[in-house]
Amino acid sequence: MQNAGIAALGLNWRYLAFDVRPEELRPAIEGARAMRFIGLNLTVPHKLLACELVDELDESARTWGAVNTIRFEARDDSGQWRPLAEFEELPETDRILARGFNTDADAIVRALREDLGLDVRGRRVVLLGAGGAGRTAALRLAAEGVADLWLVNRTAAKAEALAAEIRQRHPDTQVRLGYPGQGSVDLLLNATSLGLRPDDPLPVDLNRFPLPSATAVYDMIYQPAETPLLAAAKAAGCRTANGLGMLLYQGVRALELWTGRPGPVETMRAALEAHIYGQRPPASA
Ligand SMILES: NC(=O)c1ccc[n+]([C@@H]2O[C@H](COP(=O)([O-])OP(=O)(O)OC[C@H]3O[C@@H](n4cnc5c(N)ncnc54)[C@H](OP(=O)(O)O)[C@@H]3O)[C@@H](O)[C@H]2O)c1
Repeated sequence: MQNAGIAALGLNWRYLAFDVRPEELRPAIEGARAMRFIGLNLTVPHKLLACELVDELDESARTWGAVNTIRFEARDDSGQWRPLAEFEELPETDRILARGFNTDADAIVRALREDLGLDVRGRRVVLLGAGGAGRTAALRLAAEGVADLWLVNRTAAKAEALAAEIRQRHPDTQVRLGYPGQGSVDLLLNATSLGLRPDDPLPVDLNRFPLPSATAVYDMIYQPAETPLLAAAKAAGCRTANGLGMLLYQGVRALELWTGRPGPVETMRAALEAHIYGQRPPASA
């Protein structure tokens, strides 16, 4: 995805993957800084630790408490910090700043808007899962102005802690634990890992939440392209989308932060789909 985007922008950069152990994250970031990398993406389990290892946290990383993107910057002649990509020649300095961003949270809202046509402001949402992705989604949806949010999680204590955090940070969102007793909702969002394996049960209890009660269903899982939840939701007449968009949009935003240019979304989407599915996945309803 990133290399396709980089090529489409005509840059002679390369995006490479490295396995880094958490205890070596600090020297890995220092090495990238010393080698004048443009930036980095980090994934689980590095996103929290990275908050302490960068020099500055962008607002996005401060708000969501996790860093998935680092941009290296240097001072220009006027003393302003600028992305390394903006310098025609590598700056002669040993002071390179690592700035941490979070592009995951906004990617959720963008995926819901662009892949499901859903603006969540004022909407009713059931969220399954309160792990790392579920927590970010819940807080981001509340920040976006979701009116009613129901949290469902196997470990109730995690959902309770998340509900308390939302009540404190976003008091305008009505947050409750468990399924809505009656009435329909605009969105059922799966942020559990149920559906990754073929023998997984559905992440939702259909006795307590029949799928026709949801107008749209989003599954953060993108492999398989159609989880049993999405298949059942489609059969129940719901609009559906899988998590590929989330993965895509966090990457598009990261590339935009490094380059300062609009990301070539469709090129990156095609590369991601080709890499993950080998071909285009079944179209969403
Ligand atoms: N599309 C994307 O870009 C993207 C990005 C991030 C994550 N994801 C997907 O989102 C999902 C969650 O990721 P995560 O990082 O939040 O993982 P995580 O922190 O490990 O959380 C896993 C969640 O799934 C629940 N769960 C796991 N096994 C379960 C079971 N047998 N029965 C009921 N609930 C179960 C957990 O419940 P407990 O709290 O009770 O353990 C928790 O809510 C994964 O499928 C991941 O692939 C997608």
